[in-house]
Amino acid sequence: MAVKIHGYARNDLLVMDVDSLRAVLHERTHHTIEVQLYRILKGKMAKPKNFGSQAKLLLDVWRERTLPTDTQDLQWCIKMIEIAEKLNASIPVTLETALPEPFSNTEMKAVRKLLYGRRSIRQFTDRPVPDEMLREIMHAGLMAPQGCNVASTRFIVLRSPEEWRLVRSDIPIENGVMILICQDLRVYKTLRFDQFVPQNIYYDAAAAADHMCLMAHALGLGACWLTHGEKTQQRIRELFGLPETFITRCHLIIGWPDEAPIKSQRMSLDDAVIKKTN
Ligand SMILES: Cc1cc2nc3c(=O)[nH]c(=O)nc-3n(C[C@H](O)[C@H](O)[C@H](O)COP(=O)(O)O)c2cc1C
Repeated sequence: MAVKIHGYARNDLLVMDVDSLRAVLHERTHHTIEVQLYRILKGKMAKPKNFGSQAKLLLDVWRERTLPTDTQDLQWCIKMIEIAEKLNASIPVTLETALPEPFSNTEMKAVRKLLYGRRSIRQFTDRPVPDEMLREIMHAGLMAPQGCNVASTRFIVLRSPEEWRLVRSDIPIENGVMILICQDLRVYKTLRFDQFVPQNIYYDAAAAADHMCLMAHALGLGACWLTHGEKTQQRIRELFGLPETFITRCHLIIGWPDEAPIKSQRMSLDDAVIKKTN
């Protein structure tokens, strides 16, 4: 019987939209190679028969469709598949990676400054935010953890007041830049995450937003994470001619700070940690 991946036969994969195909390739590389590989290398689990074959089939389809393979994500998939193939051929594998090491005291100082010094900034000067900084912020968003690495996150950068007016939230933006954190919902539907792990869809956007706020802070910019509703989502779809399967999940306003808020504080950690009552 012909192999099916998530219920999709090779012929389905050959005509599947590219974003969904990429998602399935990422997900299969993750689930059928990555999460098993390091346990196999430690001798904690036996290598499954045809290790990596589903990811390989997807990569073959990707290549047959002459889609680009020089991107970092595809290179990662290829590397994982090659390692799986080596193991299948009983060829020893060396990863050329190192265990994580504790940060030095100086590095920890910077980390604490980043994590505990970040605060939401809602007013900005009219100093322009360079594109390179925005790119670094969005790249940080892409590098955030994501359920099964499905590559669903998209960004829309709005720089003009006319466009900002389409996005309704409780905080007006007067200067700076607005970045909408968006998602391609086709990807989740293809993988049936909407049925099995719908919460991941929200978590993915949240993780990206948090990484972005931290990067903005490290760059000396201010940022605030804002919520918007369905009407905003619809207006943005119309403005950019996007299908219903494209959703703006939340947005950040980013700019050079024009306010220095008192950092809000949290409840005590002791109250937040739940203990057993005897
Ligand atoms: C999911 C989420 C939604 C938020 N929505 C808004 C919002 O709509 N308007 C706003 O002014 N701030 C919003 N914020 C920012 C929070 O108000 C802010 O993070 C919180 O008060 C803690 O302050 P800090 O960020 O300065 O530590 C949101 C933050 C998160 C995580």
